[in-house]
Amino acid sequence: MADRAALVTGGSSGIGLAIARALAEDGYGVTLSARTPDKLEEAAKGLTDAGLDVHAVPANMSEEDGIKSLAAAHQKHYGRLDVLVNNAGIGIGGEIAEAETKKLDLQLEVNLRGVYLMSREVIPALKEAGRETNKALIVNISSIAGKYGQPWLAAYSATKAAVVALSQAMQGELANDGVQVTAFCPGFVATAMTDWVEGVAKEEMIQPEDLAEAVRFLLVTSPACIVPEIQFVRPGDRM
Ligand SMILES: NC(=O)c1ccc[n+]([C@@H]2O[C@H](COP(=O)([O-])OP(=O)(O)OC[C@H]3O[C@@H](n4cnc5c(N)ncnc54)[C@H](OP(=O)(O)O)[C@@H]3O)[C@@H](O)[C@H]2O)c1
Repeated sequence: MADRAALVTGGSSGIGLAIARALAEDGYGVTLSARTPDKLEEAAKGLTDAGLDVHAVPANMSEEDGIKSLAAAHQKHYGRLDVLVNNAGIGIGGEIAEAETKKLDLQLEVNLRGVYLMSREVIPALKEAGRETNKALIVNISSIAGKYGQPWLAAYSATKAAVVALSQAMQGELANDGVQVTAFCPGFVATAMTDWVEGVAKEEMIQPEDLAEAVRFLLVTSPACIVPEIQFVRPGDRM
């Protein structure tokens, strides 16, 4: 059994999968979760075939029961939690004037409520690890849209701005328990989520592995070094 364990939501592709791979390569037992079971199994198999310790648990982050079951399944399998990566998220484009309520609700549920509830469910385990190692970590994947609201992505931008504030509040609550909290605020990352982008080639985007390396960085800094957020931007992007 691994000495350290991590839980990554939205881990079946893109940023979550790259972070999960890096953590597993560094010796963490990783619970990999996402909504679609077949896609999740395939992603997990790619990691286990490489000899990595990964446990796949499907869960929809818009469902409280699913989040609770995921937290329980992780704890049952690994018995501890050192790193939580709240990565699952969706973005639905469109003008506010034309927006359907259900699309607003879905983004609020997955991008904000899911992060809050997932964190709530595992904070006791993170505090326990933090008291032991002084180095437990929550990474919340926000977006550069959470720093500078993007037109045609209003709901998405608002949820991601809320994730930055949520991260700051969490850090205040957890600072004395050895748990650090960092919000990641990336611009375009080369994942399926940016397939709609025209005029910027995938190789010109931030790579998912860049964010995975940033998680590694956060895990080797001294416990006194709190990093509230990291912005990842491309050359020429607004800063
Ligand atoms: N790519 C970018 O440019 C960019 C920039 C800034 C921030 N982000 C953020 O980065 C995070 C990861 O996105 P990505 O770019 O890596 O996209 P991605 O490759 O599409 O990955 C999204 C992941 O989230 C999962 N997911 C979506 N809805 C879910 C739900 N309701 N419950 C559980 N899992 C769910 C997906 O699984 P299923 O396919 O099974 O739904 C998938 O594993 C998101 O929070 C996104 O907002 C991305």
